[in-house]
Amino acid sequence: MTINGVRRTAEVEDRTLLVTALRDHFNLTGTHIGCDTAQCGACSVRLNGKVIKSCSIFAMQAEDCELESIEGVAPDDRTLHPMQVAFTQTLGLQCGYCTPGMVMLALDLVHENPDPDRETVVRSLSGNLCRCTGYEGIVSAILLGAKMMREQKEG
Ligand code: FES
Ligand code: FES
Repeated sequence: MTINGVRRTAEVEDRTLLVTALRDHFNLTGTHIGCDTAQCGACSVRLNGKVIKSCSIFAMQAEDCELESIEGVAPDDRTLHPMQVAFTQTLGLQCGYCTPGMVMLALDLVHENPDPDRETVVRSLSGNLCRCTGYEGIVSAILLGAKMMREQKEG
């Protein structure tokens, strides 16, 4: 498959989950495993442009797909993506365990709707769990990140 713009290959067992392949075969450990049962969203990545829970499909199902993980979000090693900056500015993270999945979810939402209202953001979070923040900071981060992305686009 193509991961963050680079063609990558690995040999995996039929039963290997996509999240396991990302972490163990491609060393992309920014994608976290919280539940392994498609409930928490910590393992969210974008596959062919849509956010998915990477513990919910087998690696083989992603063959020849385009995958974007949290490692591919920032433009370079020294610069955060505006959505990542927004999470740091609004207390959108504490332990950070849910954060990669939250950022991938947020980017998917903003891709579909560049100017989401608060209710839309709250609704979009229904499949992603955070045990630390109480969600307020995450909602604020996504709204701020969307605004910063719009401003960046407008130049
Ligand atoms: S680890 Fe995939 S949804 Fe929790
Ligand atoms: S910041 Fe700790 S789980 Fe969300």
